[in-house]
Amino acid sequence: MPCILAIESSCDETSAAVCCDGEILSNLIANQTIHEKYGGVVPELASRAHMKNIVPVVDEALKQANVSLPQLDAIAFTQAPGLIGSLLVGSQFAKSLALALNKPLIAVHHMQAHVLANLIPTTSNGIKNPKPEFPFLCLTVSGGHTQIVVARSANNMDIIGETIDDAAGEAFDKSAKLLGLPYPGGPLIDQYAKRGNADRFSFPEPQVEGLNFSFSGLKTSILYFLKKQLKENEKFIAENLEDICASIQKTIVTILLKKLRKAALTTGITDVCLAGGVSANSGLRTAFVEMGQNNNWRTFIPAFEYCTDNAAMIAFTAYYKYLDKDFSPLSVTASAKAEWK
Ligand code: KG4
Ligand code: ZN
Repeated sequence: MPCILAIESSCDETSAAVCCDGEILSNLIANQTIHEKYGGVVPELASRAHMKNIVPVVDEALKQANVSLPQLDAIAFTQAPGLIGSLLVGSQFAKSLALALNKPLIAVHHMQAHVLANLIPTTSNGIKNPKPEFPFLCLTVSGGHTQIVVARSANNMDIIGETIDDAAGEAFDKSAKLLGLPYPGGPLIDQYAKRGNADRFSFPEPQVEGLNFSFSGLKTSILYFLKKQLKENEKFIAENLEDICASIQKTIVTILLKKLRKAALTTGITDVCLAGGVSANSGLRTAFVEMGQNNNWRTFIPAFEYCTDNAAMIAFTAYYKYLDKDFSPLSVTASAKAEWK
């Protein structure tokens, strides 16, 4: 019955979790609000905040799980990808702890963990929620990534489509910035979109081959659209914010789901999942579930706390790695852009 402590520090959330025998016992997340006023994550400030947060967050995760340091069987951490300064704080902390406790170290790839978040056991009203079965498809959409993955087993995954420029979360956040909304703007677009008419404005969809995505053209077309409208009416954004947000959201969701549908048809896989922070988007969730019903897929979305960056998904992935005895030496290093096979 392995008990694993995991640390996630790839971007601007300091998180620690304890997973014992595949069950998540605690999942603590310290958000960094310092970046709001800069309109995006400032790497140096993120690293400093991780250094401040990491000890209290780990301490609280152990307390909530009622697990003491000697009871741990392994220490896991996010090795890649992410901001290098942020990753270094978590990786050095995990390595030092593994060395001090003389316990195995498990290096986890952040994107694999986002996918496996769909398998974390959860319950609704005391009843276990169904889980996807291998092989399943996963659309991982976050601030840094947009990928379609075929998961054949916990440790065997292939990326079959990804963005060639901006990630879906960036498309939300950059559009929000053009509208004068604070960072991160994705959740705000979602909120305004709920009261807007999504068919009021239309933005072009990119023509990208295969299962890849592109979002940089959308940002440019929104910029030119707004410039033109603001020339005619300087209050255009304020007067039409809800409709603009709904129209932008509909375009992003359509781009994402068209490729996901193509992936399902090409592979013949019918268990289909979402992952990553953007899967919190209400427009995406509704359209995804609807598309699943229309195509006879089983659809899955992780619990909200396992969608955005969190250490529970790192601990849970480490559990599979522990069973495979897939440990790392203390010489393992963090990497901003590690390839993932
Ligand atoms: O997975 P995540 O927490 O961190 C990264 O690894 O990037 O994803 C954060 C991203 C941000 O771009 C944020 O704007 C977006 O997810 N996001 C949303 C929503 N909630 C978070 N985008 C659209 N609608 C939402 N409700
Ligand atoms: Zn992430």
